[in-house]
Parts: sequence; structure tokens; C-alpha cells
Amino acid sequence: MKKHVLITGGAGFIGSHVVRLFVNKYPDYQIFNLDALTYAGNLRNLEDIEEAPNYHFIKADIRDAAAMLRVMEENAIDAVIHLAAESHVDRSISDPMAFVETNVIGTVNLLNAAKTYWRDAMEGKLFYHVSTDEVYGSLEDGSFFLETTPYDPQSPYSASKASSDHFVRAYRNTYHLPVVITNCSNNYGPNQFPEKLIPLMINNIIHKKPLPVYGKGENIRDWLYVVDHARAIDVVFHHGKEGETYNIGGFNEWKNIDIVNLICSILDKKLKRAEGESKLLITYVTDRAGHDHRYAIDAKKIMTELGWEPSLQFEEGIDKTIDWYLENEEWMLGVTSGEYQKYYSEHYK
Ligand code: NAD
Ligand code: DAU
Repeated sequence: MKKHVLITGGAGFIGSHVVRLFVNKYPDYQIFNLDALTYAGNLRNLEDIEEAPNYHFIKADIRDAAAMLRVMEENAIDAVIHLAAESHVDRSISDPMAFVETNVIGTVNLLNAAKTYWRDAMEGKLFYHVSTDEVYGSLEDGSFFLETTPYDPQSPYSASKASSDHFVRAYRNTYHLPVVITNCSNNYGPNQFPEKLIPLMINNIIHKKPLPVYGKGENIRDWLYVVDHARAIDVVFHHGKEGETYNIGGFNEWKNIDIVNLICSILDKKLKRAEGESKLLITYVTDRAGHDHRYAIDAKKIMTELGWEPSLQFEEGIDKTIDWYLENEEWMLGVTSGEYQKYYSEHYK
């Protein structure tokens, strides 16, 4: 099988792991990484595979409808794996329109390009939309998000992702576009931009900066190692049933404060600091507006129907992740200069 696969957002955190997996595992496929290289996109994430003969980078913006059709036509695209998005909840609170433009309009631009380019032969094509568990809203303790849980997004970010999911399903229903959607829980691992909880805490501990915990730190997230998400995307891309939705998660719930304490202890050991030293940096700050209390995915469908399961326990994954950040100081310096400083001082003022 030879396929031309367009992966959007491939220079970002999850996208770079998906691109790497597909480039290495499927030498017969041509992989086209389309990314606008926003503050979150970084080609250094892909240095190890950029010379591969089946890898191609296209700098383009999904908000540009004409460019999306041109990219599909010029590269004879058979399948799209769509990850490009504005992905940070806090930024969606200060600038919701950016999320409407990229996550909603950008996704519809791609859907239109696929519908137009594939209009005479939908057979064998696939539009794979990568979404989030946040579309289901905020959970109280005791229950889980199922694929059938009604949508109830609570932040501008999750509302924009929910809207894009609805458009994907509407294009299947109306125009018979072959689609699949996955909704995944919180990812962690190498290459995550340090605006997100885990890399932000690691970076601040290393530099002995305050550790800003929102509210009381009691909000709960369900964490999955990013490579396991990429493996799940591979499984769904190849074996998922067209038209279906699959939830992806690791059955791995943590209160934020427990994660922060764990990272402090691990780094105290690795940096040979006194046990408890880094915890003194914990600073409780004003809560995120409309902060969702808990996310927890029931991933039984993808596990039983497609045989996927996480490969790493959290303790192993967080240790590997911390080692990666310690060994890649240059990467962190590169992404925390310039715009990041401005964002950080405005957001955490
Ligand atoms: P990220 O912010 O690290 O990367 C997003 C990428 O998209 C960047 O490379 C950026 O340059 C690119 N991009 C942004 N706007 C673009 C535009 N207009 N045109 C082209 N490219 C653009 O995000 P991530 O954390 O890797 O998330 C990837 C996808 O997975 C998103 O759709 C997100 O909603 C979803 N998701 C993320 C998580 C998570 O925990 N991070 C969990 C579930 C789902
Ligand atoms: O659930 C999947 C989602 O997970 C993805 O769709 C999003 O793209 C991704 O950003 C993530 O959203 P969260 O809002 O859960 O992730 P974040 O890392 O921003 O925050 C995790 C938790 O930590 C959340 O409860 C807020 C809290 N937090 C976050 C930051 C950045 C803090 O307490 N302090 C912080 O400085």
C-alpha cells in the first residue's frame, strides 16, 4: 500500500510524534507535514527525520482555504490526519477569536479541500480528526467520558474543538466524506511547549522559579504518554471503522498538586537537591476562569475493538520525560526566549 498522508500540525508537540512514527514505520508512504509554525510549532522537534526520503514539510496556514486545496491537489493526498490547532486553554480565554479562526474555520477549510479534491472517488480516502476529551465538559468524581457522552464544552478552546468535531460529522452525513474522530486525554512527554502544566513545572523547578498552581491544585486530569497517543492514532488510522469515534486515555488520573509534588521529588533527586527543596517553590495562584474540575476517559472501546493499550506506566513515562527535558536544555532555551517571556509575564503577573 502506498499512501500520500497529509499530517497537519506536525511541527507541534503531538504532531511531531505522529509524523516521526509514520515516517519511520511506513517507508512506502509519503508523509506531508503541513504547519504554519506558530509559537507552538518547532521544526527542531523533527530534526532526526527531516532528511528521510518519504518526509516533506509544507509551511502553510489552515486558515488559507485556497492553499489547502492546492496542497491536496499538488501532492495527491489520500488521507488527512488533522492535528493543527490552537491548543492552550489559557490562551483561548484571553484570545478566543484565534481559536475560532484556526480550530473552526481552519478545520472547515480542510474539510472543503478534501471534499472537493476527493469528490469523484471517496473510496479509500480518510479524513482523521484529532480531538480532545475536553469537548465532553467537566466531570464530577465517579464517572467517565464515553464516546456517547453528550458534548458540553466549557472553555473557548473546548467549544472550538467541539465545533470542529460537529463539522467533521456533518461533512460525513451531508457529503459522505469518510471520517474518523478520536478524543484523547491530557498528553505529556518530550517536546511539549512549556505553557502546559508538566513542562512548565519542570522548567521552573530547574530554574528555581515559583510553581504556579491554579486554585487549590485539586483539579484532576487523566495523563497519557504522547508516544502512546501517536501509537493509538496509527491503530485507528489503519484499523478504525470509518465514521466511528474512539476515546483515547490511560486510566491515569492525577490531582494537579500531586503531579507537581511528584515532579518536585523526582527533580530534587536528579538535581541532587535536598528532599523537599523544590516543593517550597509551590505558589497557589488565582484559578483559571471556568476551570474544569475533572477529565477521565473510558478507553475500553479502542482497547477491546482495536487492541490498543498504553505501553508505559505513568511513573516510567514521567521519569523519561523529565530526563528528556534535562538532556535538552537547548530546546527549552530556544522555545522560552522571545514571545514566551511576554506571554509568561502577562499571564502570571
Ligand atoms: P501544539 O500547540 O503543540 O501544536 C499545534 C501545532 O499546530 C503547531 O505546530 C502549530 O504551529 C500548528 N498550527 C497552529 N495553528 C495553525 C494554523 N493556522 N495552520 C497550520 N498549522 C497551525 O498542540 P498539541 O498539544 O500537539 O495538540 C495537537 C492536537 O491534538 C490539537 O488538535 C489538540 O486539540 C489535540 N489534543 C491535544 C492534547 C494535549 O494534551 N496536548 C490532548 C488531546 C487532543
Ligand atoms: O484534556 C486534553 C487537553 O489537555 C488538550 O485538549 C489541551 O490541548 C491541553 O492543553 C490540555 O488541557 P489542560 O487545560 O488540561 O492542560 P494544561 O497543561 O494547561 O493544565 C493542566 C492542569 O493544570 C489544569 O487543571 C490547569 C492546571 N495548571 C496549568 C498551568 C499551565 C496549573 O495549575 N498551573 C499552570 O501554570
